[in-house]
Amino acid sequence: MDFVSKEQKSSGLPDAEPENRMQTVFGGGTCDDYAAPLFIPWQLNSACNLECLHCCEEAGRSLPDEMTKEQALDFCAQAVQLNVPYMAISGGEPLVCPYIFDICSFIRDNNISLKIETNGECIDDEFARRLAELKLRSVQVSLDGATPETHERLRVAGNWKKAVAACKYLVEHEVNTEVVFVPTKFNIHEIGDVIDLAYSMGVYGFYTGKIMQIGRAARNWDILCPSEGQYERFSEVLREKKAAYEGKMQVFCYAHDVIEELKYRLESPSASLLVLPNGKVKLINSLPFICGDLKKESLSEIWEKYKTAWRNPDVVEFSMKAIANPNLLGESNSWIEV
Ligand SMILES: C[S@@+](CC[C@H](N)C(=O)[O-])C[C@H]1O[C@@H](n2cnc3c(N)ncnc32)[C@H](O)[C@@H]1O
Repeated sequence: MDFVSKEQKSSGLPDAEPENRMQTVFGGGTCDDYAAPLFIPWQLNSACNLECLHCCEEAGRSLPDEMTKEQALDFCAQAVQLNVPYMAISGGEPLVCPYIFDICSFIRDNNISLKIETNGECIDDEFARRLAELKLRSVQVSLDGATPETHERLRVAGNWKKAVAACKYLVEHEVNTEVVFVPTKFNIHEIGDVIDLAYSMGVYGFYTGKIMQIGRAARNWDILCPSEGQYERFSEVLREKKAAYEGKMQVFCYAHDVIEELKYRLESPSASLLVLPNGKVKLINSLPFICGDLKKESLSEIWEKYKTAWRNPDVVEFSMKAIANPNLLGESNSWIEV
């Protein structure tokens, strides 16, 4: 079944697959159909060991009001109680959180499927072994270049060799490993080489899609946004590589850009809300709107507020304006409560 609508195909990129990095903002199904989210992407922390030019979260330092370990575990217990089937932990950099294994163990001990999104900098042999024990759905490692120069230009303070080594350690420990690549003006030409590198490391899947014009990426848009011509060549290479690795490694490209996705979500909000490090809950990464606060309300209450918030006139009006003028999404991290 072709699950991508005509509208979604308009980006000109190869068709999306249901499993890819952008599940973080997309989820599955329509929210009204469900008594609880099907998928919870969670930015566990805002602290990060890198300062990526494109960071949609504008991560770096911890927020002053982040959830404590106890509050975080309480949130996880609520997700268990509501039978949430799938969570993804991102950041900031989640692996610098001192209690990451406590959180992940709790989630996995309660049979929630779990993905971790990481820059891989902390993953050595022992770290990979501990991650393997968690029987995760997957670990997603960001690799934004086929060479140290390119990767480290985008991922300021990053270390390409460490990211590559992280993939190798994870594969050795039989962790389902995915590589994610975000195209920009100065790394997009390396797409084919990064896919080949991913395959040579034995990873399970390679994921990419258009860069989102939000957070720090919006501020650095002029130096980051690839040209139409670059995206056309990118799509051609993706098609070739997808065919070349058929049956050997999954090569996925998320077909929506951030505006196409927003249009679609206005019509059909996903069964998925986004939890921020301080417990505030967002409708979707690209919008500034907050529909609840886990420090004050239950996940169940917030889920009901999430459903109605998508019909809030302020949300609809802002979204329509942003669809006409994507620069407005640069304010997605200036939160507005609805
Ligand atoms: C925000 S990062 C957090 C996890 C971890 N620190 C990392 O670097 O992978 C999660 C994923 O989002 C991607 N990402 C960040 N900013 C983005 C943007 N503006 N557009 C598309 N993807 C972006 C990153 O490259 C990474 O693969």
